This record gives sequence, C-alpha cells and structure tokens, in this order.
Amino acid sequence: MLKDQDRIFTNLYGMHDRSLKGAQSRGHWDGTADIIGKGRDWIIDQMKASGLRGRGGAGFPTGLKWSFMPKESDGRPSYLVINADESEPATCKDREIMRHDPHTLIEGALIASFAMNAHASYIYIRGEYIREREALQAAIDEAYDKGMLGKNACGSGWDFDLYVHHGAGAYICGEETALLESLEGKKGMPRMKPPFPAGAGLYGCPTTVNNVESIAVVPTILRRGPEWFSSFGRPNNVGTKLFALTGHVNNPCVFEDAMSLPVRELIERHGGGVRGGWDNLKAIIPGGASCPVLPKDKLDDAIMDFDWMRQNQSSFGTGCMIIMDQNTDVVKAVWRLAKFFKHESCGQCTPCREGTGWMMRVMDRLVSGEAEVEEIDMLLDVTKQVEGHTICALGDAAAWPIQGLIRHFRDEIEERIKAKRVGRGATVLAAR
Ligand SMILES: Cc1cc2nc3c(=O)[nH]c(=O)nc-3n(C[C@H](O)[C@H](O)[C@H](O)COP(=O)(O)O)c2cc1C
Ligand code: SF4
Repeated sequence: MLKDQDRIFTNLYGMHDRSLKGAQSRGHWDGTADIIGKGRDWIIDQMKASGLRGRGGAGFPTGLKWSFMPKESDGRPSYLVINADESEPATCKDREIMRHDPHTLIEGALIASFAMNAHASYIYIRGEYIREREALQAAIDEAYDKGMLGKNACGSGWDFDLYVHHGAGAYICGEETALLESLEGKKGMPRMKPPFPAGAGLYGCPTTVNNVESIAVVPTILRRGPEWFSSFGRPNNVGTKLFALTGHVNNPCVFEDAMSLPVRELIERHGGGVRGGWDNLKAIIPGGASCPVLPKDKLDDAIMDFDWMRQNQSSFGTGCMIIMDQNTDVVKAVWRLAKFFKHESCGQCTPCREGTGWMMRVMDRLVSGEAEVEEIDMLLDVTKQVEGHTICALGDAAAWPIQGLIRHFRDEIEERIKAKRVGRGATVLAAR
C-alpha cells in the first residue's frame, strides 16, 4: 500500500485547500526556481532516469520525448501542449487533478516548458469539463497574481505564459495531432506523421504534447529524485499512478497507487471488491475503451502495468479499469464501444470511416444473435483490415475491443447465435 508521504496527489479528493497557499502547504511550488536553475539538460536527464512513461495511454517515455525538442531555436518558438481532453470512456483521472490539485499541473507546466525551451503552454481541456476548467483557470489566475506565472515566473528568470483552451467535445481531439489542428481553430482531424510534432507541431513550430498526469507528476519527481519514483513498480513500469475503477465494483473511485500491483488487490483494496465477490467477476477492460477485454481466468494473477497487459494481449492504456461482473452482457458492452468509435471517427481515412460502421453493424447482429457463425471470422478479418491501416490510432482503438471479445468470448457469441436459431426454428415449426 502506498504510504501517504509517497503520494504525489495530496488533494485528489478535494478535502483540502486547493489554492496556491494550500498547495504550498502540501509541498508544491517548493524550490521551483532552484529546479529551473539546474538547467534543461539536468531536468531532462532526471526525467529519463525516473523512467516515467506517458500517462495518456501510449506509455511513451516522457524524458525521451522531451529530448526530441530542439535545444536551440531556429527562430520559431517551441510549445508544450497539455492534453486534458480525457474523452476515453471510463477514463476520469485527469479531471481530479484539474479540479482538486491544479497547482501540480501548473508548476509542472512551467518546469516542463522551461526544459523544452517553451515560453508558452496550452492546456486543451475537454468540452464537457466546465467546472474543471473553472477551477483550473482560477488557479492559473492566482498563480499569475502571485508571480508564479508570467514574466520571470516564480523568480526563475524564465518568462512563461499558460493558457487554457476549451474543446467542443470530440473524442478525436484527444489524439495529439487532431488536438493541434483544433487548437489552431481548424476541424479536429489527425495529421499524417511525419512530420512529428517535435519538428512541426502547433503553428508549424516544435511542440510536445503530454498528458495532464505526465506533467503534473514532474515537480515531485524532480524534488524527490528519480530513484524515489522508480522505486515503485517493476523495471520499465515504474512510478506511482492514478488509477480508476468503474462499473461493477462496490466503490467506484480514482486513486493513486504504485504501478505493477495485482489487479485483484487494486480492485479489492480501493474498490471494495467486485460486486458479489471476486468469483462473480466476468471480465475487465484494463485502461479505457480501446483496450482489449480480459476474462476472469486471466485476471486471478494479473499485474496492472504496461508489460503484463501487453504480454497478455491487452493494453494498460490510462490505467482506468472497467469492471464487469457475471451479469454483464459482454457482447453488448463491446457493441456499445463499437458504436462509440463509429460515432467518433473523423471519417478522414476509408478503413476507419467504413470499417467502424461495418464493425458496428455486424456487432448489432451478434448482440441480437441474428448473425451467422461465419460472420464472427469475417468480423475478425475486418478488424485486421482496419488495424494498422489508418492515419491515427482510433482505427486500432475500434478494432482491439472486438478482437478481445472474439478471442475470449467466442463461445458466448456462438451460443447466442445458436440459441436464436433454435428459437427461430421453433417459431417456424409453431407457425406450421
Ligand atoms: C483517438 C485518440 C484519443 C486520445 N485521447 C487522449 C486523451 O484524451 N488524453 C491524452 O492524454 N491522450 C490521448 N490520446 C493520446 C495522445 O495522442 C498522446 O499520445 C498523449 O497525449 C501523449 O501524452 P503522454 O506522452 O504524456 O502520454 C489519444 C489518442 C488517440 C488515438
Ligand atoms: S483513423 Fe479514423 S479518426 Fe483517425 S484519422 Fe483516420 S478516419 Fe480519422
């Protein structure tokens, strides 16, 4: 169990004062100018040594990502863009940072921007997050008033401006290049890569896009040292992390704990257990809607981290788990996700635009049992034609839950089709 003194987010539940004074009393904004005084290389080296992997879903090493930014400007400004879009179903961790512990993010934005030679940073916040935006903006205003932001931010000698930009509520705007398009005032459609944002991002300038949590943990890592951070979890999967539990747990919640703990322990300790007990568990979706579903027999010894999930044909994602008990119609649950991805596809590339609709329509038939058994393999085949053939990862995100469903619950799908057929047969006989 993570000790209280090892928590980065000390006001996750909003029980304490979230103002600057309150944040300072909990150790934030402590020695910020000294950290900046140690220089860019030092900060990036420390971040690399900490082993932090991006908390936005893909798990790319944060320090390494920062090192791709140009050290000297060629005349263009550099930007840090913070991804607060958080629209993945079941993912609800960044909002707790923004509404209850916003100074962790603001201080992190200053330090990270300095490390990447950026005098300005934008926080792109999800359209529906109105209260979160208000809390964040109030904290930013206060930080300006007290000299923590703006000219000579925090007495560091670095001029730094931080802006909040409110999205309009499209899931695709969480994809980093669609986010940049939207920030520029255009339709939120992903860009082809390369060029990568570090070469040409916002307004064609060097840009790094990082998740809220990835940035908010930076000051504490630098204050306490990379060894402290990497002492939690397993190699390659280190640190503390915000997790969420939704669905059929007794206490749905967001919490901070160490990486690489058993899934069962997290559910039982923080979520009060699965509704009806562990044996009533049917499946989980580990880290947001795009992660393939895992059935109970895989979960008894499952470890919640990047490597374990990948080795078991799923994905750690954002660490926000959907728990499904035995009452769940898992086919229908995955159908609902298919419907979501179809709705959120930006329509720019054919395999995604057509494939998401196609997959959803076959899923409709699987849910009602009206499909033929052969259609299961046809559906799997379509997921493979979408996966890896699109501009952005939304295509993969739409394919993976269905692949997971077929991998682990094929029997259930087939039984439904057969039951329906018997039912159909009985109706025909009765009609004769
Ligand atoms: C369809 C789609 C939606 C995404 N939504 C989010 C999001 O809401 N928040 C987020 O941080 N990353 C999201 N990502 C991942 C971002 O593209 C990007 O990898 C991330 O912001 C990088 O931050 P990190 O390196 O700190 O994890 C999304 C990706 C895709 C393909
Ligand atoms: S994969 Fe889908 S969401 Fe992504 S660019 Fe192509 S059509 Fe748009």
